[in-house]
Amino acid sequence: MAPPPREQAHYLLLKIHSLMGIVPIGIFLVFHLGLNSLRTVGPLQYQLSIDAINNLPFLFGIEVLFIYAPLLFHSGVGFYIYFSGKRNAFRYKYVRNWMYTLQRLSGAIVFAFLIYHMGTTVVPKLMYGKHLFEAAPFLIDILNVEFQTWTGRIIYLIGIVSATFHFANGLWGFCVSWGIIIGKTAQRNASVVFALVGLALTVLGFATVLEFSLDPVSVTPTVGG
Ligand code: HEM
Repeated sequence: MAPPPREQAHYLLLKIHSLMGIVPIGIFLVFHLGLNSLRTVGPLQYQLSIDAINNLPFLFGIEVLFIYAPLLFHSGVGFYIYFSGKRNAFRYKYVRNWMYTLQRLSGAIVFAFLIYHMGTTVVPKLMYGKHLFEAAPFLIDILNVEFQTWTGRIIYLIGIVSATFHFANGLWGFCVSWGIIIGKTAQRNASVVFALVGLALTVLGFATVLEFSLDPVSVTPTVGG
C-alpha cells in the first residue's frame, strides 16, 4: 500500500532539501571559496573575478534563483529538521551520531555567519549602489578592514570551517541517502574522501583570510576609475 500523501510530501521535502545542499548550494560554495582564494595570487586577479561576476547580465535574478532562494529553502527545512529531530549524541557514542549533531550545529552557525557576511558585503554594496566595476574596490576595502581585527578573522574562520564541514559531511549523507554509496566499506572510504574535500576547501578559505590579513591592498576600478 502506498504511504499517505502527507508522508509522501514530507519525504519529497527532505529529498529536495538534500539535493539543494549539493546543487546549487554546494557548487556555489566550492566556486565561492575558489574564486576568493584568487586573492592569494594577487589583488588584480581577485578584482577581475569580482568584476566578472558584477558585470553578468541579470545578476540579481541569477543570485535570487540560484543562491538566495535555494539557501532560504535549505535553511528553512534544515531548521525544521533541527527542531524536530532527535540529537542522540549523548546517549550513543557512535561517530555517526556525533556527525548527525555536528551537521545540525554547523548548519545553524553557517546561517548566523551568512547574516553577518551578507550584511557586511552584498547589503552595503546594494545600499550604496556599487555596481559593475565599482563593486570590486568597494567590497575589497570592506574585506581589508574586516580582516584587520581578530574579531573579523575569527568570525570568518568559524564561518569557513562550519560551511566546509557542513558541505563535506552533507555530501556523505547525500550519497548514502540517495543510494549512491551502499556498502559499509564504500561508505567508510567515501567519508575519508569527503573529509579531504572539506579540508582542501578549508585550506583555500584560511589562505584567503591570511592573505587579506597580511596584505590589505586597495584597488581602483578596472574601468572608469
Ligand atoms: C575567505 C572567506 C570569504 C570571503 C573573502 C568572501 C567574500 C565575499 C564577497 C566579496 C561577497 C560579495 C560578492 C558580490 O556581491 O559581488 C560575498 C558574498 C557571499 N558569500 Fe562570501 N566570502 C567568504 C566566505 C564565505 C562562506 C564560507 C560562505 C558560505 C557559508 C559564503 C557565502 C556567501 C554568499 C551566500 C554570498 C552572497 C552571494 C553573492 O553575492 O555572491 N562566503 N562573499
